[in-house]
Amino acid sequence: MPRTKIAGIGMYVPKNVVTNNDLTRVMDTSDEWIQERTGIKERHYAIPFEDTTTTMGVEAAKIALERAGVSTSEIDFIIFTTISPDYYFPGCGVLAQRALGISDIGALDIRNQCSGFIYALSVGDQFIKTGMYKNILLIAAETHSYGLDFSTRGRNVSVIFGDGAGAVVLQPTGAELDEAPSPGVSPSSPSRGILSTHLHSDGSEAEMLSMINPGFHAGKFAPEKKPAKPAQPYGGLFITKQLLEKEDIYPYMDGPAVFKKAIIKFPEVILEALTANHLQTSDLRLLIPHQANLRISQMVQHKLKLRDDQVYNNIDKYGNTTAASIPIALCEAWENGKVKDNDIICLAAFGSGFTWASALIRW
Ligand code: UT7
Repeated sequence: MPRTKIAGIGMYVPKNVVTNNDLTRVMDTSDEWIQERTGIKERHYAIPFEDTTTTMGVEAAKIALERAGVSTSEIDFIIFTTISPDYYFPGCGVLAQRALGISDIGALDIRNQCSGFIYALSVGDQFIKTGMYKNILLIAAETHSYGLDFSTRGRNVSVIFGDGAGAVVLQPTGAELDEAPSPGVSPSSPSRGILSTHLHSDGSEAEMLSMINPGFHAGKFAPEKKPAKPAQPYGGLFITKQLLEKEDIYPYMDGPAVFKKAIIKFPEVILEALTANHLQTSDLRLLIPHQANLRISQMVQHKLKLRDDQVYNNIDKYGNTTAASIPIALCEAWENGKVKDNDIICLAAFGSGFTWASALIRW
């Protein structure tokens, strides 16, 4: 059975750069607060009537395809992961398919929020390993800026998020699964590609980081799981005037609670990946964590005793781009020469759901 390799990678961010100081013009915040609490200096926002989640994803995909040396006609499956799709339905998978001029192949949409890219990578990995597909185009893209509360009320959420896209082309390697590293085998063993993926979720605190409207919940939540600011029931109507007038259409986050959970689950799932492959933190060339908050990455690095050069962060430039953050960071790291053949790379994510996941790759 072959392994799955990333044959090409691309990223795209919209041209509109928004600094922390720009945000101070619309809400009560400061460059100092944002940098101190999150490490973010600026982010990119989509340009209305120009950029959408699909268009940005397609731009990233074109670069990934070119780098993989694959034409659109060779793609046999599309996976699109986002929580900010162009339409409620259909998903961005078919919209990207249409924009790329590809017909008839399957297009799958995956949500899974901040863990979306790793979940999608894991799904693609299974299809490649079983031989079902030979060239999968995986796109991760987000347009948060169209749906954030830019008043002071929404500042704890809105200053964090940014827009952008990343994409990879997945292909089979020639290596056999049997070549997986075993105890005592040096990490320079020839087995390359995705070594493992580990996916987790726990819905018991689903509303802690959520955007529950527009939805069909009609105000019904698990009794003990109401968000601190519960969405108002509107008799099951999908979108009403009242809904639009309230804050219920914006993301809600209990930031400190999410932070506390993140710094537990990130190290856990990274160690799970390493242990499953009989590797240690010292074998790790690069950890690419979902860019949720620089303080989270730093605490994870500290807990795992990783050197600065073993962790890649670029949240200062892009903010938190949810599903797109890992492929954007991976692409940038690869472009900067920080990811080389045979390097052990760990991707890890934690976010809304809660969902968390890791992928270990020998590049
Ligand atoms: O990617 C998905 C996963 N998401 C995460 O992992 C995010 C995890 N959480 C976080 O990163 C942090 O909780 C935040 C960056 C969101 C918030 O930082 P915090 O240190 O937890 O702040 P806080 O929510 O506890 O708020 C502290 C204070 C409050 O004021 P008072 O009540 O102490 O007077 C907030 O009103 O900071 C205030 N505040 C702000 N002040 C200026 C909240 N947001 C802002 C803001 N500018 N943007």
